[in-house]
Amino acid sequence: MRIAIVRNGKELGERAFLEIKKVLLEKPDAVIGFATGATPLPLYEKMAEDHKKNGTSYKRVRAYNLDEYVGVDKGDKASFARFMRDNLFSKIDIDLANTDIPNGMAEDLNAECERYAEMVRANPADIQILGIGRNGHIAFNEPYTKPEEPTHIALLTADTRAANAGAFKDPSLVPTYALTMGINEILSAKRILLLATGESKAQAVYDMIMGRDDTSCPATALRKHPDVTVILDKEAASLLTFTEWENAAERRAAEASAAAAEEALVEEAAADEAADEEPVETAEETAEEEVPAEEIAETAAPAEE
Ligand code: GLP
Repeated sequence: MRIAIVRNGKELGERAFLEIKKVLLEKPDAVIGFATGATPLPLYEKMAEDHKKNGTSYKRVRAYNLDEYVGVDKGDKASFARFMRDNLFSKIDIDLANTDIPNGMAEDLNAECERYAEMVRANPADIQILGIGRNGHIAFNEPYTKPEEPTHIALLTADTRAANAGAFKDPSLVPTYALTMGINEILSAKRILLLATGESKAQAVYDMIMGRDDTSCPATALRKHPDVTVILDKEAASLLTFTEWENAAERRAAEASAAAAEEALVEEAAADEAADEEPVETAEETAEEEVPAEEIAETAAPAEE
């Protein structure tokens, strides 16, 4: 997991765009997974600006989104489908026929989930953009969601509904259900780009990186992925002091080394037992297990203005 800390939304957009540009340069027909919410907006602004200025093309790009509310029409201003069109797709040259999002108005929501899961399986994302909820959710995978659950109907928590009330005329109109890609489906992307801004995300960011490795914070699942870039502003990173990071890294390295030593002991005991039974065999050397190197935070120190 690489971590970059930036000063403001503009820098976040620029830094995140570098990741998208890298993918597009490698693969002009890349599959990009998009996220909604206020956090990725500076990235979408940067993409639109760059398209206008430099002509970066998205004609061959395939895009799909993480989630959508149940019962909200794609033309409705509060829908994620409309959000994507208004904030990005109408400002770049992407072919709308190459974009997809779960249909929260489908008559058979389970069938729609199956269709979406199949579509994701057939088109693993080259890069998946993610935000994070105040409770650590990714897409609409609320705490304690099983990672193996594919695209499904999610029951939104009261906190999530409150956090998303802004797009609705009245907080009571925020849907109770949404369709969301599952955690392992999200992890099937080749690269992941997680963005978080603001103090309200600081605890979730802390839990994602330093907290207990369980489903109480769904974003901890990203630790399993080999290519994750996290871009934070100072407020979202405010609970991640470097010393704590070092301590956590040391603690995990120590735990890994203890587990490896224990495994070697068990193997040695098994080998001894086998040697007792068959005295002809030569004594096995104690396996020296390589302790996986701890992930290092690449903290991008922002340049002075
Ligand atoms: C919603 C979306 C998430 C998003 C989150 C954070 O719950 N389902 O995908 O990451 O909101 O949104 P914001 O960026 O507005 O804080």
